Amino acid sequence: MYKGGDIMIKIAIIGGTGLYDPRILDNVRDGTVVTPYGEVTYKVGEFSGQAVAFIPRHGSAHSIPPHLINYRANIWALKKLGVTNVIASTAVGSLNPKMGGGDFVLVDQFLDFTKSRVATFYDGGDRGVVHVDVTQPYCSNLRAILLNAAQEIGIPIHASGTYVCTEGPRFETPAEIKAYAKLGGDLVGMTNVPEVVLAREAEMCYVTVSMVTNFAAGISPHPLTHGEVLETMAANTEKIKRLIMAAIAKIDTKEDCACRHALAEYGGFKL
Ligand code: HPA
Repeated sequence: MYKGGDIMIKIAIIGGTGLYDPRILDNVRDGTVVTPYGEVTYKVGEFSGQAVAFIPRHGSAHSIPPHLINYRANIWALKKLGVTNVIASTAVGSLNPKMGGGDFVLVDQFLDFTKSRVATFYDGGDRGVVHVDVTQPYCSNLRAILLNAAQEIGIPIHASGTYVCTEGPRFETPAEIKAYAKLGGDLVGMTNVPEVVLAREAEMCYVTVSMVTNFAAGISPHPLTHGEVLETMAANTEKIKRLIMAAIAKIDTKEDCACRHALAEYGGFKL
């Protein structure tokens, strides 16, 4: 089993609901990384001459609910492997009539309505206190790469959108959805926070491709089911894989980015 550390992996995919297998990669092996938050298992394979790590966010059998995902361990593990670029996928409900089932959205902002999650590596004590800037929470370079890749391979994509992160694991009430829409939300999901924030603290470039699996509660004409989410994801998995791989082929891992200096004011992120 690959133990991490002996090869540099610069690119990682965090697969959301419906994206559990890294069959898009060649020569796939299992690996583990020990972190202060627990051990993380991942896959590593090759694509386009690059080593690419893959973590299924909910576990390989969708057994970890959104509020119990070990976000800190996952991001720490990727950082420890040497990853600088993370492409994440998320399944989302839509609050925006222009974003329908099967649509891809490159989210550029989030609203955080989570309740029970630790959203920082900096809890005081030895690690101190950090107030990281999230004016642009998602890496603008990676967003541009994804947008170009989508255009090149002919996959329509919304170039921006605001992701509302709820605590879950229940779906939302129609009253909540109405409120989120009034606040400017376009999409609703349960996992992007704190993942995106931790990636920024860890000074990694991070981007999310959201896939609309349903209209949100009260907008959808019927009650929501996880089955509907899985069905729409399954119908579009090949497309999302093609998009992610087309984007990976465009990443120049030697290029620097402001995301890698997010904690410059604090002397940088330290493992
Ligand atoms: N709400 C929250 N998370 C989701 C939804 C939703 O409607 N669809 C897919 N993930």
